[in-house]
Amino acid sequence: MTSVKLNPEFKGRDFLAISDYSPGEVQEILDLALHLKRLQAQGVPHPLLAGKTLGMIFQKPSTRTRVSFEVGIFQLGGYGLFLSPNDLQIGRGETIKDTALTLSRYLDGIMIRTFSHDEVLELAHYASIPVINGLTDLLHPCQVMGDLQTILEHKGRLRGLKCAFIGDGNNVCHSLLAGGAKVGMDVVVACPAGFEPRAELLARARQDALATGARLWVVQDPREAVEGADVIYTDVWASMGQEREAEEKERHFARYQVNATLVAAADDDVIVMHCLPAKRGREITDEVMDGPHSVVFDQAENRLHAQKAIMALLMQ
Ligand code: CP
Ligand code: NVA
Repeated sequence: MTSVKLNPEFKGRDFLAISDYSPGEVQEILDLALHLKRLQAQGVPHPLLAGKTLGMIFQKPSTRTRVSFEVGIFQLGGYGLFLSPNDLQIGRGETIKDTALTLSRYLDGIMIRTFSHDEVLELAHYASIPVINGLTDLLHPCQVMGDLQTILEHKGRLRGLKCAFIGDGNNVCHSLLAGGAKVGMDVVVACPAGFEPRAELLARARQDALATGARLWVVQDPREAVEGADVIYTDVWASMGQEREAEEKERHFARYQVNATLVAAADDDVIVMHCLPAKRGREITDEVMDGPHSVVFDQAENRLHAQKAIMALLMQ
């Protein structure tokens, strides 16, 4: 058994966006994630959420998020309930407000993956318990917390690194910009015209970056982006919900593939990241994904540890 001291300032808060947390708080979550990972590896029990329950609402499919949250709450001594739209009355039109007010009477926390970010904001507004964003069309903050942990483990630092995100200016890209801003890591996004990250989110991240010195910018040329990069990051060209646009997007993104030629243009010790699931042979080749630079399964693992830290702090 271990005694972990949890900062009471996190108690009861939501985790909807990395931008809601200060640089010091982001670091504190990462420190706890690394600590919990060590405890788990050593077989030291850490039931920080004994007897507590997390409801997990999934309006989109998931492998990593579902399994890592469910296993994570179990390792913390709590219990996770998987709630699909078919199980909830939301699927039959019950309002988000009434769902939030009801679930707050049973649970100690809610994790939600859905389409509209506003839906998550509404849920968090009405819920009296912490709400954790497990991905919306706009953001994927838990992903990036696990990613920052992964970069830290491989590079020994975050500040001053250069991360090149190659692909769609999507939810993962938005959270990566927000995360880079908080930890002082430069993030350059290379994407085709018309697929840039949202201007207001880039502006917000740049505002946050004033405190850490991170530089955040957007280019069109993937080769230019990876020059001197410590990290290359990519994601699917068509996200969940964009299935109908997938074919057209493939045409726009053809020259944005992370392949051996692109990786060779970066630093020799560059790490290659992908939040997964990947479309092998599209945005990333087999050779790179299975190659020596790839850390994609470390990323997948660190979702577990980062989210355990988030749950422990918020639901304490
Ligand atoms: N990266 C990620 O969120 O994966 P899942 O969609 O499998 O949860
Ligand atoms: N951008 C991807 C991330 C999946 C984890 C999507 O939203 O489908």
